[in-house]
Amino acid sequence: MSRLPSTDLTDYAEQLIRNRHATRAFRPEAVPEDTIRAIFSLAGAAPSSSNAQPWRVEVVSGARRERLADALQAAHAEQRTSVDVPYSEGMYAPVHRERRAAFGADLYGALRIAPDDHLARAAYVAESLRFYGAPHVAFLFVTGDGGVRLAADVGAYMQTLLLAMAAYGVASCPQGLLSFYADTVRTELGVTGGKLLVGISFGYADESAPVNRVTTERAALETTTAFHA
Ligand SMILES: Cc1cc2nc3c(=O)[nH]c(=O)nc-3n(C[C@H](O)[C@H](O)[C@H](O)COP(=O)(O)O)c2cc1C
Repeated sequence: MSRLPSTDLTDYAEQLIRNRHATRAFRPEAVPEDTIRAIFSLAGAAPSSSNAQPWRVEVVSGARRERLADALQAAHAEQRTSVDVPYSEGMYAPVHRERRAAFGADLYGALRIAPDDHLARAAYVAESLRFYGAPHVAFLFVTGDGGVRLAADVGAYMQTLLLAMAAYGVASCPQGLLSFYADTVRTELGVTGGKLLVGISFGYADESAPVNRVTTERAALETTTAFHA
């Protein structure tokens, strides 16, 4: 492929988009409040169908974050799951399963957890309900009927938020797992409406943690994208 001329903006975009990674070990120090506000203000520039902006965002820090992590771990231990946006393993196509398996092997390999060590895997999942040690977590709720089209808009918000965080040097991990405890999140935060799509843990990355060096591949362009003329 011929090299395209690059501008500052294309260079920034390449860096920002390609260098964002899911972070699974954080340092404990908080992100300054003005930085958090700048990030969420920028994320609000995300597109949505007819500009409806069908998201509701709950950002949790400090003592409330501790209480919420305790409540999530208790719900998990007692198998009190509640899911607003349906999930099933069956939703994945065979090619998705292959990619998930490859990712799982890389992740648990970095954690030095053997494939058949189900106890260690379960313990890691339970511990991840403490947001991988991140000092903050944001919950993204879909408002309106919470249906698939509105959820897609909240997905656009999510990626805008992740990139805004990356631009401010803040690391993040979207955690679908947190959405399996929607009632617990609602109760702890006093939230009444909306469907919980995902939680996003964020803070400063612990660069020394091997788990943060896991890299993920992407399918080749031609396998996902056709160009018609
Ligand atoms: C909607 C969504 C849910 C996710 N849920 C989890 C999760 O529950 N736990 C986790 O460790 N990572 C989770 N991830 C992170 C993905 O594993 C990660 O984005 C993917 O492997 C690609 O890696 P990268 O983000 O580092 O590029 C989630 C990502 C998305 C977009």
